[in-house]
Amino acid sequence: MQRNFPQLSELRPLMAFERPSLDFRSTRLARAADLWDLRRIARRRTPKPAFDYVDGGAGREVTLERNRRAFADVELLPSILGGHASVDLSTTIAGARSALPVGIAPTGFTRFMHAEGEEAGVGAAAATGIPYTLSTMGTRSIEEVAAFQPNSRRWFQLYLWNDHDASLDLVNRAAAAGYDTLMVTVDTAIAGQRLRDVRNGMTIPPKLNLRTVLDASYRPEWWFNFLTTDSLKFASLSGTSHALPDLINSMFDPTLSLDDLRWLRSVWPGKLFVKGVLTVEDARKSLDAGADGLVVSNHGGRQLDQVPASLHAVSAIRAEVGPDVELILDSGIMSGGDIVAALCAGADFTLIGRAYMYGLMAGGRQGVQRALDILAEQMRVATTLLGVSSVAELGPQHLRLDGRVASTPAGGPVTARP
Ligand code: GLV
Repeated sequence: MQRNFPQLSELRPLMAFERPSLDFRSTRLARAADLWDLRRIARRRTPKPAFDYVDGGAGREVTLERNRRAFADVELLPSILGGHASVDLSTTIAGARSALPVGIAPTGFTRFMHAEGEEAGVGAAAATGIPYTLSTMGTRSIEEVAAFQPNSRRWFQLYLWNDHDASLDLVNRAAAAGYDTLMVTVDTAIAGQRLRDVRNGMTIPPKLNLRTVLDASYRPEWWFNFLTTDSLKFASLSGTSHALPDLINSMFDPTLSLDDLRWLRSVWPGKLFVKGVLTVEDARKSLDAGADGLVVSNHGGRQLDQVPASLHAVSAIRAEVGPDVELILDSGIMSGGDIVAALCAGADFTLIGRAYMYGLMAGGRQGVQRALDILAEQMRVATTLLGVSSVAELGPQHLRLDGRVASTPAGGPVTARP
C-alpha cells in the first residue's frame, strides 16, 4: 500500500488548539453537554450530605425513578417537511410572559449547596427572562432576593401553615417586594422520609468531625466558601418567634385543611397556585377553594414514595379540568425534551428544582446559566424536529405516553399504542 505523508502546512488548518484558559469554572461548565454532566461535576464538588439532599428522594426512591422513567418512556411523534425556520419558545404563565416554558422551583437550604445560593438562581433566571421562585425555607430573605435582582420575575412559595399571623406577614412582605404569584405547597403534611439524609447524618450546618474534615480536603472551594460567607439561616423567617425545630414542625402540619387554603386565598392579592397535586379529586378541591392554577408535582419524589409520576398525573388532570386552567408540572425534568413532553401531555409550564441545583453545585450562577442554556437548546432542537413553530402548538397529538392514551381536554383519545 502506498502512503502519502501530509506536509505540516496541510495539517495546520485542521489543528485548532484551544488556548489554555485559567477560567477553570467556565472551561468545566462548557464541557458539560447535558444536565447529567452537570450532575457529575456537582457530585465531585459538593460534600456528600449536601449533594445527596438534592439528588435523593423519599423512601426507596421509587417515585424519583418513576418520574424519570415516565419521561424516558414517552414517544414523541414528529411531523416532517412542514417545518419552520425558527421556534418561539416563549409563553404566558400566571398573567405574564416567560422567555421559556420553564421556571425555577422553590428549593430550601440553597446556600448550603453552593455559597451563591439564591443570588445565583434569581440572577440566571432574570438573565434568561424566566420566573424564579423563592422558598419559605430559602437562605436569603424575600427582600434580599428582590433587592438583588429588582427586574426579575419573582414568585414566592409558602407552606400552608397554621400560624396565620406569620403567614400573613410573609404574604404581605412578598406582595410589597413585587412577587406576583404565590405557590402554596400542600404535600408536606409531614416531612418525607429521606433515607439518604438519615444515612449521611445530614445536619445543617454540618457537624465537624473526621469525616467532614476529610471531605474538606478534596472539596476545598466549597468549604472555603462555606466558612467565609455569612451563616445559613431561613432568611425570610428570622423575625418569627419559633425556634428552628418547632418552626419546621409547625409548617409540616397534618391538621391543615381546605379552610386554611381558602383563608390564604382571601389575603393574597396575586395569582395563587396550589403545589403538590397529583389526583383529579385534589385538583378539583384546590380549584374550588380558589386556586388560579395547579402545580402538578410529587415534590421531586421527596414526599410520599410510590405516588404517580407527575407526567402521567398531568395528563389525567388536564382531561378533568379542561383547557383553561393553568397547569405547571415539576418533578423529574432533566432535559429540554422532558419539558417538551410535559407540555405535550397537558402542562402549560414547568419548574426545575434539582436540574438547576446541579448547575448551581457545579458552578454557582454560571452553572445555573449553563443548565438553562442547555435546556433552551434542547427545547429548540426538540420543537424544531417535532415540526412546530411555537410551544403553544405542542399538544397530545405529539406524544404517546408509556402504554397510555394521551387525552385531549375533551377526554377523547388521541394516540393509542397499537
Ligand atoms: C423541601 O421542600 C425539600 O423538598 O427539601
